[in-house]
Amino acid sequence: MLDNFSEASMAISGESTLVYQEVARKVQREKGIRVINFGIGQPDLPTFRKIRNAAIKALDEGFTGYTSAYGIDELREKIASHVNTLYPNGKPVKKEEVIITPGAKTALYLAFLLYVNPGDEVIIFDPSFYSYAEVVKMLGGKPVYVKMKWAEETGFSLNVSELEDKISSKTKMIVLNNPHNPTGMVFDPKEIENIMELAKEKSIILLSDEIYDYFVYDGRMKSILEDPDWRDYAIYVNGFSKTFSMTGWRLGYVIAKEKITKKMAELAANIYTCPTSFAQKGAIAAFDAFDEVKDMISLFRRRRDVMYEELKKNKWIKVHKSQGAFYMFPYIGEILSRANIQVKDFAIKLIEEAGVTTIPGEVFPLEVGKNYLRLSFAVDENDIREGVRRINEFTTRLMKEIVGER
Ligand SMILES: Cc1ncc(COP(=O)(O)O)c(C=O)c1O
Repeated sequence: MLDNFSEASMAISGESTLVYQEVARKVQREKGIRVINFGIGQPDLPTFRKIRNAAIKALDEGFTGYTSAYGIDELREKIASHVNTLYPNGKPVKKEEVIITPGAKTALYLAFLLYVNPGDEVIIFDPSFYSYAEVVKMLGGKPVYVKMKWAEETGFSLNVSELEDKISSKTKMIVLNNPHNPTGMVFDPKEIENIMELAKEKSIILLSDEIYDYFVYDGRMKSILEDPDWRDYAIYVNGFSKTFSMTGWRLGYVIAKEKITKKMAELAANIYTCPTSFAQKGAIAAFDAFDEVKDMISLFRRRRDVMYEELKKNKWIKVHKSQGAFYMFPYIGEILSRANIQVKDFAIKLIEEAGVTTIPGEVFPLEVGKNYLRLSFAVDENDIREGVRRINEFTTRLMKEIVGER
């Protein structure tokens, strides 16, 4: 009886990235080598001091009870005024249009829960952050994948024409993530505009996950909030995890027209009540920490350059220099086909035989990622040099053994 799980729960697979961390721990324990971890999805810095102090103060002052399901007004106001400064085009965002959630994942979950009925189709780019498709499946919806196009020179593009072909009478939503996990792309503003137009024209909800918006090294990031008409078709998701290195605080938010945030607050009240009280007080101080954010981005830009230069030394790997987030997504299809090995097994071999953890691209559904590896450069610069050196040495050895190449 207790093993009879619901259909909803059975539609979801566990977080497969954790498998690789587990293998790494085993290798460290058994072989005594230090495994370099390019598998992580969070900045390696502690949360900035100002933010920690504000949360400590809130705790000391006894700010430990429930808050409103929307989150506290002061934080909602801060978020509204922040996005109004960033995107001054349209009618200003009001605090009523902001709901704070326990992490951006929960923000995404509320958005899917609000709209996806069994049988509804949700268009998701391939590759994508794994949780979009899982939650859609859990709700009985159907993820419909649009393969991104890739070229070494230009990286991935959103393939708007294929997206248009995939739209059917059942299409409820399109999920967009910019800057992009796992590819590190900052998409061409024109492509984003085309998708915005398409969503408007076809009356499809555009769910825009902009959690990496501060991690832009080259190019310009186009936000859906730049469109004065965004309220007619879009839901905006962001959070504190990445920009302020606050992954464990679990704070994200949705910006959407008031009718939507109101409904989400009703869902929230029944699922988790509210986001954590004192964490929200910490997050208010985050809006005074943009100098620290700027320093972190400069540091990450340097690390990105180092990782790119080191990967370029490997003749078996093709890599496009990422422009955003903190991931590099090199193409390793030639190694995989010549060595006749799947990307998952290759990633395990890299941990066991080279002492480097990466995430195999197939974790990011569905097909495209099978020829790529995701490497996070939210890692110390010396480790980036050493880790990529190990990868390069390993692939050279592997190719020499298997195909007799030098
Ligand atoms: C694209 C994307 N969206 C959302 C999240 C979830 O963020 P949070 O920690 O705020 O739940 C992540 C985290 O890896 C992510 O990469």
